[in-house]
Amino acid sequence: MEGQEKQVTGYLLFSLATAVIGSLQFGYNTGVINAPEQKLRSFFNDTWMERYGEPISPGVCTIVWSVAVAIFSVGGMVGSFSVGVMADRFGRRRSMFLVNSLAVIGGLLMGFSTMCSSYEMVIAGRLVIGLFCGLFTGLTPMYVGEVSPTPLRGAFGTLHQLGVVVGILIAQIFGLEALLGSDKLWPLLLALTVAPAVLQCILLPFCPESPRFLLINLKQEEQARKALVRLRGTEDVSKDLQEMKEESAKMAMEKKVTIPELFRSAAYRQPLLIAVMLQLSQQLSGINAVFYYSTGIFSTAGVKQPIYATIGAGIVNTIFTVVSLFLVEKAGRRTLHLVGLGGMAVSALLMTISLLLKDIAAMSYVAIMAVMLFVAMFELGPGPIPWFIVAELFSQGPRPAAMAVAGCCNWTANFLVGMSFPKLVELCGPWVFLIFTAFLIIFFIFTFIKVPETKGKTFDEIARSFGGAQPPALSGVEDFPASASVDTTPPTWPVKE
Ligand code: GLC
Repeated sequence: MEGQEKQVTGYLLFSLATAVIGSLQFGYNTGVINAPEQKLRSFFNDTWMERYGEPISPGVCTIVWSVAVAIFSVGGMVGSFSVGVMADRFGRRRSMFLVNSLAVIGGLLMGFSTMCSSYEMVIAGRLVIGLFCGLFTGLTPMYVGEVSPTPLRGAFGTLHQLGVVVGILIAQIFGLEALLGSDKLWPLLLALTVAPAVLQCILLPFCPESPRFLLINLKQEEQARKALVRLRGTEDVSKDLQEMKEESAKMAMEKKVTIPELFRSAAYRQPLLIAVMLQLSQQLSGINAVFYYSTGIFSTAGVKQPIYATIGAGIVNTIFTVVSLFLVEKAGRRTLHLVGLGGMAVSALLMTISLLLKDIAAMSYVAIMAVMLFVAMFELGPGPIPWFIVAELFSQGPRPAAMAVAGCCNWTANFLVGMSFPKLVELCGPWVFLIFTAFLIIFFIFTFIKVPETKGKTFDEIARSFGGAQPPALSGVEDFPASASVDTTPPTWPVKE
């Protein structure tokens, strides 16, 4: 593709890195609550003693703890659902800027909770931080998708998940007793989320607004052109501009799409189904059963220092996200998602076997291997792809509404797995991972039949293919070296049913 080598500029990378701070925050706040569980429980007890002169009952303590953990996802559901309205009203960049105030409020609430002897402040802080993270799970992938050049949209889209996994890893490491996971320092561990929020607010004014938002939503062609010239490092941005104008012309007919309209219109039914199913495949794969409860899984398997095995899982998690980043433009989204789901199903079977035969000493190693493989396969496809493919499946008009619906489904499924897993373990014992195996097989079949390859296609080409219109000869696709392509894209491009 002409000028393609000039498309990755330092300025583009700077803008992407700034947006991905939001992903880092989501990962950090997902991972941060596990390590200090016992410290938080004793804090709840101390506060109770101070107020009522007697220790908190174990039952009440568990309720307060579970609420503090789960309310994060409730905030996430609300936050992700609000993303469309915000992104259209304030723009992508200004929304990110404004949303950071939530991290400051949430972080301060949690950080000062011990000083104020108030566990309610931990709960309120987790709710606000959940709202903040929910908004960023929409805003970052949307911004990244909109500023990236088409041939690299998948690789850069994976950066969101890379930010998430690095955030989880940082939280796991900082959470160690010797660092910030101690009796005294845990409030600081929870409040640390304020620092990246401030950093992002300092950097955002130097980033451009999404050129697509400027041109298609605000009709500011000159501003959009300027942003593109800086992002692409070349004066010749006519191709990008032309593509956006085509999308814009189409949008003028489509008008702005609200969430109810998204559900009503037949043209969006197919991509919406795919977007939602991919989000569900990410969460119902059981990944967070591992991330939230890995320490328990490892101790059941006889591992002496489970916290280090958990950090090991975090490292595997990060490595395979990087692998996916390099593979996604070659192998394609569809292939990686299929390989990931299939590999996870096999790992879940292995985990079941190791838990069933745990009296055999060597099985503890099989369990560790199975968990690592499960995490690695997740990051190949089901981790990164659902987050960025939603931005690819929809054009500018319906994109924010679609991101809101998809994100909200993701958070709801996350909440359900997180809440129900301990109960499921009680009911099913070592068979529990078979539930996820069943889901994985269903999602594998769905992906095989329904999910198209979006690699290398412009937003408009993808959207048009669902609208039943004549696919525009997929002209952009021919520009890419055929040798790089090893995907298993079905020969027919799906059209509206
Ligand atoms: C994805 C999921 C998140 C999970 C993480 C693990 O970002 O959305 O729920 O904890 O991957 O890497």
